[in-house]
Amino acid sequence: MTINQAFEIFRQAGGIRAARIITDNTKKLSWWRVHKIARQLRAGVPVAKIINQKWFFGLKFYTNKYTLDPRPDTETLVAAVIADCEKGENIRILDLGTGTGCIISALVKNIYGASGVGIDRSWQAVRVAKRNVRDLKLAQSVKILRADFSKIPDKIGSFDVIVSNPPYIAFDDSRVNNAAMFDPRMALFAPDNGLGAYKVIAKSAKKHLKKNGKIYLEIGQGQTKSVKDIFVHNGWDFVRVESDLAGIERVLVFEKR
Ligand SMILES: C[S@@+](CC[C@H](N)C(=O)[O-])C[C@H]1O[C@@H](n2cnc3c(N)ncnc32)[C@H](O)[C@@H]1O
Repeated sequence: MTINQAFEIFRQAGGIRAARIITDNTKKLSWWRVHKIARQLRAGVPVAKIINQKWFFGLKFYTNKYTLDPRPDTETLVAAVIADCEKGENIRILDLGTGTGCIISALVKNIYGASGVGIDRSWQAVRVAKRNVRDLKLAQSVKILRADFSKIPDKIGSFDVIVSNPPYIAFDDSRVNNAAMFDPRMALFAPDNGLGAYKVIAKSAKKHLKKNGKIYLEIGQGQTKSVKDIFVHNGWDFVRVESDLAGIERVLVFEKR
């Protein structure tokens, strides 16, 4: 099949933007493959899940059905950490729930001398994150481990900065958009009305943070007060809130007392 024929089939199935990205990023456009992709587009599968690729903070990440596709909202968290750490030296960063490894990779690429560890409970996500770290030539400075938020291994030591974009959607939340239907449930949903992961992290993260170290958390729309209460109640000092490009409060920063 010619590239023009494939483009037209994709355009009809998913629009011009999807058609352009897919033809630019797909090597073999066989008849079988083109029609499979058209079926996926008609079913609402996000382009990132079709081409197994998503750009985040200017870097290209491999993604698959086991990982959350990196979101532009999460760039707010990365930018907040970079702004605070630009003058630091040999900053060590821990990323809880690393998924594709997008946050820790973007941070270590952009903060001179930084290194880090990313952990995730999903072994499939761990495989994806390791692949991205290798492809981005960060294997010397970023380690990826399989571990749970609630049992962060002692051996990884302590950090200047902890970051997390944990699952924060309540199980009964009906506002989940179409793209998220194709992301893993473990990456999206949390118990306790979406606050369960924050409650665990507020307790478990502290002993891995150096004195005056900070934690940066992505939050869902409308969760500022609840998450603030959880962290203050667990002995953290509130530092600030950052909004995303849509003006929604998206990142909370706390300091270890
Ligand atoms: C919202 S996704 C974030 C992925 C990535 N950091 C990003 O921002 O695109 C949350 C991640 O946390 C992981 N996760 C969920 N519960 C966990 C737990 N109890 N311990 C460790 N990781 C967990 C999921 O597997 C998923 O990769």
